[in-house]
Amino acid sequence: MHENLHESYPTTPTTGATTTQTGTPVASDAHSLTAGADGATALHDRYLVEKLAQFNRERIPERIVHAKGGGAFGELVVTEDVSAYTRAAVFQPGATSEMLLRFSSVAGEMGSPDTWRDVRGFALKFYTTEGNLDIVGNNTPVFFIRDAIKFPDFIHSQKRLPGSGLRDADMQWDFWTLSPESAHQVTYLMGDRGLPKSWRHVNGYGSHTYQWINAEGERFWVKYHFKARQGVENIDGIEAEAIAGADADFYRRDLYEAIERGEFPTWDVKVQVMPYADAAGYRFNPFDLTKVWPHSDYPLIPVGHFTLNRNPQNHFAEIEQAAFSPANQVPGTDISPDKMLMARVFSYPDAQRYRVGTNYNQIPVNAPHAAPVHNYSQDGAQRHGFNAPTAPVYAPNSFGGPVADPTRAGEGSWESDGELVRAAATLHAEDSDFGQAGTLYREVFDDAARERFLTTITGAVGGVTRPDIRERAIAYWAAVDAELGAALRAALTAGFDEAAEAAVEPVGTPS
Ligand code: HEM
Repeated sequence: MHENLHESYPTTPTTGATTTQTGTPVASDAHSLTAGADGATALHDRYLVEKLAQFNRERIPERIVHAKGGGAFGELVVTEDVSAYTRAAVFQPGATSEMLLRFSSVAGEMGSPDTWRDVRGFALKFYTTEGNLDIVGNNTPVFFIRDAIKFPDFIHSQKRLPGSGLRDADMQWDFWTLSPESAHQVTYLMGDRGLPKSWRHVNGYGSHTYQWINAEGERFWVKYHFKARQGVENIDGIEAEAIAGADADFYRRDLYEAIERGEFPTWDVKVQVMPYADAAGYRFNPFDLTKVWPHSDYPLIPVGHFTLNRNPQNHFAEIEQAAFSPANQVPGTDISPDKMLMARVFSYPDAQRYRVGTNYNQIPVNAPHAAPVHNYSQDGAQRHGFNAPTAPVYAPNSFGGPVADPTRAGEGSWESDGELVRAAATLHAEDSDFGQAGTLYREVFDDAARERFLTTITGAVGGVTRPDIRERAIAYWAAVDAELGAALRAALTAGFDEAAEAAVEPVGTPS
């Protein structure tokens, strides 16, 4: 089954005569056609012109975020019975699905070192019998913001200054401290999980609340968890910095070489399931991406596992051109009224039409393998698959063309207020920007992790030059935990010792 993917890519023969792109044998790959050995180059050296022109067009725009990454193919196996919650074929007992997982860093560019401190992307594509299901998550269960309208500003603050082209602690901390909903995610980022040992040693999270729908049409809210059987392992700032200098592709190499060796990494797939009606009264707003659902409220329910067992044959074709999107849902799964998720449904296909091209879903890595594509879209740049010559080109029609399924009309729905407003989502009983960040710091981190955390934020905040932003950063951490705020102030006032200084790095930036 896995071989299908290879077969759908035309590959060039590795032996025989060199040809032009249209198959004509060429005379030389060493010498251009010139008027005499030392004379002018002939413009009609068709192969030379084609070779240079083709070369100039090798690059496509890198992803606006998550530009640096790598990935591999594998298989999802469902070992448990969660059919009470979803009718999706991909999650039925015993189902197996071909899949792709791309890991990434968020803020760095395509060539940036893998071991800069950052959140890691964890993007899954399942080629199911009902179309592709994508779960485009991270190695953390929450995010920095809860409204998509802030996303471009957030990313600008983490990338580069317009004038110098440099990354800048002032703008990173300015944005975070003016957006206190970031505290939970920044606590993860500055904690040990900001520097994984490898991609094989991260957990993945769908992060958002999604929706599952069972065969009776009953709806549930779900959160996806992918637990690394390899365990979660991290490295410290000193090691990360040394690796960043020695091997910028450290994570990409680790994953590729492990799979080549036959060491196939595996993740357990689990979900938290909330009955539809619980959402309104739950102590945290369940559609707020800055919050987790404590497992004591909604325990992890096992679903199955997936294993990565095959490297890409061609990084560009299969990883760079891969297009993941939270819009890719299947019957029995859907989105929720999370303001971030609803906007992502627009943003990803838009980015991919620009980055890869209008017909990006016809590229083998993005096209469904196990489900037919059947609709009235046609034409556009670089189209290479098409409907039958006699097929009707419009709907409705009387010629037997594809017909939409009206029984799906209500699927993925929810009740809503109805009036158009610009407002923060409803606050539930225990919602606060700093509460869960404090719990993470006090109850999940151990003493040693808390010590490392203080060292990391001392270095990161120490990079802030504007006193008012630095002061706000201290207040931000004091709001997470009063003792932490006091310790940070003391550390910043004292200045930090040599070892601590070497261990810290402004986020995503080599020091
Ligand atoms: C409203 C907020 C967000 C917007 C507008 C947004 C937008 C984008 C865009 C435009 C891309 C590049 C897509 C491409 O060119 O193929 C991207 C990539 C990505 N985003 Fe987001 N994003 C948002 C929030 C998130 C969140 C909350 C997560 C995780 C929970 C996330 C995870 C990812 C990952 C993993 C990738 C890389 C996918 C790949 O490997 O190709 N993003 N995002």
